[in-house]
Amino acid sequence: MGGMNHLDALKEFLSIPSVSAQPEHAADVSRCADYLVQKLREMKFDAQKINTEIHPVVVAKSPTVAGKPTVLIYGHYDVMPIDPIEEWESAPFEPSVRNGRIYARGASDDKGEIMAHLLGVRELLAEDGELPLNVIFLLEGEEERGSTSLHNLLQQPEMVKQLGCDIIVVSDTGMAAPDVPSFSYGLKGLCCFELEVRGPAMDLHSGIFGGAVANPITTLCEMLATTHDENGRITVEGFYDGVSEIADWEKESWKRVPGMSDAELADLTGVPALRTEEGYTGAECVYARPTFEPNGIVGGYMGEGSKTVIPTHAIAKISCRLVPGQDPVDIMRKVEAHFRKVCPPSVRMKFTMQHAGDAYMSDPHSPFGKAAQQALEETFGNPPVLVREGGSIPIVAELSGKLGKDALFLGLDLPDARIHSPNENMRLEIFEKGISMVKNLLRLMSRVPV
Ligand code: BES
Ligand code: ZN
Repeated sequence: MGGMNHLDALKEFLSIPSVSAQPEHAADVSRCADYLVQKLREMKFDAQKINTEIHPVVVAKSPTVAGKPTVLIYGHYDVMPIDPIEEWESAPFEPSVRNGRIYARGASDDKGEIMAHLLGVRELLAEDGELPLNVIFLLEGEEERGSTSLHNLLQQPEMVKQLGCDIIVVSDTGMAAPDVPSFSYGLKGLCCFELEVRGPAMDLHSGIFGGAVANPITTLCEMLATTHDENGRITVEGFYDGVSEIADWEKESWKRVPGMSDAELADLTGVPALRTEEGYTGAECVYARPTFEPNGIVGGYMGEGSKTVIPTHAIAKISCRLVPGQDPVDIMRKVEAHFRKVCPPSVRMKFTMQHAGDAYMSDPHSPFGKAAQQALEETFGNPPVLVREGGSIPIVAELSGKLGKDALFLGLDLPDARIHSPNENMRLEIFEKGISMVKNLLRLMSRVPV
């Protein structure tokens, strides 16, 4: 990265297929961590690659500047799988520049954002010879699969001590529009689980046994259909316990977020009409209402032609997005209890908990929060909209809790960045402004008394 220009550095980073979910990419994920360590060492950071049971965590510290705040910049260098591959217009790990954007998996989430931070720091160093404050980079390789290893590392007091800081900065969230930055003060929590419905011991001829034996696919769908009522409310008992109402000032300010009206949301997603929880707008549901979503469902025969069979089982992968006041494990127990209640005696069900992370909310009006809003306004020419995020960064609540400091979200993912989708991209103009934003941010934060 030494004398390399911004775009080349980003391309190099995006070329490494660091897909954390797929074991065949484990060596690529590790190589991506090496890449970051090398770049950080070139900037005179004390950088370490910490190996874990799954993927490495990179921790890097700038040379100490006494009496100045310490900013911990958190990000993730892992990316989501690329499927469906046939829908990509250029190869996901061969970054391609077209119509002012760079297309590649991770271009926005989160490699583009990390690279903006690295380059912002590099430029400050080049311009001033030293940083105006202390910077710690914490870059992990498992965010997209639940941050298990970073969670484990945070159980070590020594690790928590090493990460001691005054404020946590995260660029891994959304941005309202190219000229309207977002300052987010909340993230949703998440819990993921699987529901399996088992019927006959072997696949059955649907003529010889059909009508006498329950079809596990039908039963699974019936069970899923009991989770919402006609108003789009989740029917799981106790699901909304502890959920607080959205404040009036939030409802007012969310009406003005560009792109978030019901009509615009329908247009952007390509649905014929929204289906929100009754009494709430689309934006309110996205930012502040908990959800229950089956993410995938399998069972039976899906090969060529037809096959008249009653399959042995059907499985759904499900996740719930949670808001402050909900405990992810408690919610999974309540969901399991719901399914046990509605599961008919004609099948057996198995419920498997997967990963979970707490929702998070911080104070947008703290001195560091104000510095962040000023940096966004100076960089993008408009004050940021204050929003909560529908997305999750599972480790943030724990990281913030353990370090005892707030996390602030200065995201650069535009609504059309297609994160997690084919043709993920980042506008080059936003990438460049992201670099300037980081410079402004660190300069402004260096003036916050600590
Ligand atoms: N960067 C996203 C989270 C995000 C995106 C928040 C846009 C707000 C706006 C993050 O990388 C992500 O996708 N997280 C996952 C976590 C999960 C896989 C454990 C998510 O939210 O689905
Ligand atoms: Zn993501």
